[in-house]
Amino acid sequence: MIKRITTSAIVALALTTGGAIAAGSSEQHIEDFSFSFEGPFGKFDENQLQRGLKVYTEVCSACHGLKYVAYRNLGDEGGPHLPADQVKAFAAQFETFDPAIDDFRTSTPADKFGASNLESAPDLSLMAKARAGFSGPAGLGLNQLFKGMGGAEYIASILTGYTGKEKEEAGTVFYENTAFPGGWIAMAPPLVGEDVDFDDGHSNDLHHMSEDTAAFLMWAAEPKMMARKEAGLKGVIILILLSALLYMTNKRIWKPVKAAAKQ
Ligand code: HEC
Repeated sequence: MIKRITTSAIVALALTTGGAIAAGSSEQHIEDFSFSFEGPFGKFDENQLQRGLKVYTEVCSACHGLKYVAYRNLGDEGGPHLPADQVKAFAAQFETFDPAIDDFRTSTPADKFGASNLESAPDLSLMAKARAGFSGPAGLGLNQLFKGMGGAEYIASILTGYTGKEKEEAGTVFYENTAFPGGWIAMAPPLVGEDVDFDDGHSNDLHHMSEDTAAFLMWAAEPKMMARKEAGLKGVIILILLSALLYMTNKRIWKPVKAAAKQ
């Protein structure tokens, strides 16, 4: 009897805490953007990555860095896939500090994007992998199983999640944002819509630009995602083949024994 009471008490406790956590996270709103790279057959969209690169370069890089990404990776297949001369020209717009000459020089494709210009702005190289947009329900992680980790959705939701309200606390201005944990972020809305013009004529409203920027940052954080998915798929196909062979071998080995048993 006592045992039964304790179990039901624990279950009740788990349910209430689960409910409380779910209630807490429901304030944070992450929109489930549908990205081309989702699912086992998903692929990065070259044009989208190029548009995101443009937004990053013209807007985000004023404050944020991308210090783990090399310019030459912009030419990678499965990534933005810029032609070699464009990668070179892109890198040449920037300067890199070279310890060998103790001075700045024009960047080459082998150099990396710079670090953050603003100390309080985090580096964005791994941001799409460092944040999870989805969680629960009640700590089960089912949402992540079905919707993905949601790093890119989180970033896109931050960019579209400003309510327009702001407040000042201890000399810092905070902006209300429905996607940021806690609801107030110290980054002023970086995009308002039509901030950049896209060469491919794609819509540059706030929603699309946010989506493109988030896709680009997902690629920056996981440039080999395509290769990983491909290897995984091959592995699964080989395992299915092996299982079939094993099943048939098993049948064959036991055939004489089964035949003998029938007689
Ligand atoms: C004027 C400077 C500035 C610009 C421009 C800017 N940011 Fe930020 N960003 C910040 C600061 C400061 C923070 C830290 C905010 C905080 O922790 O409250 C931040 C934080 C972030 C975060 C992290 C949120 C988290 O979970 O910690 C992301 C993602 C982000 N910015 C993305 C972007 C993107 C994408 C762009 C370009 C479209 C951009 N930012 C442009 C200053 C900037």
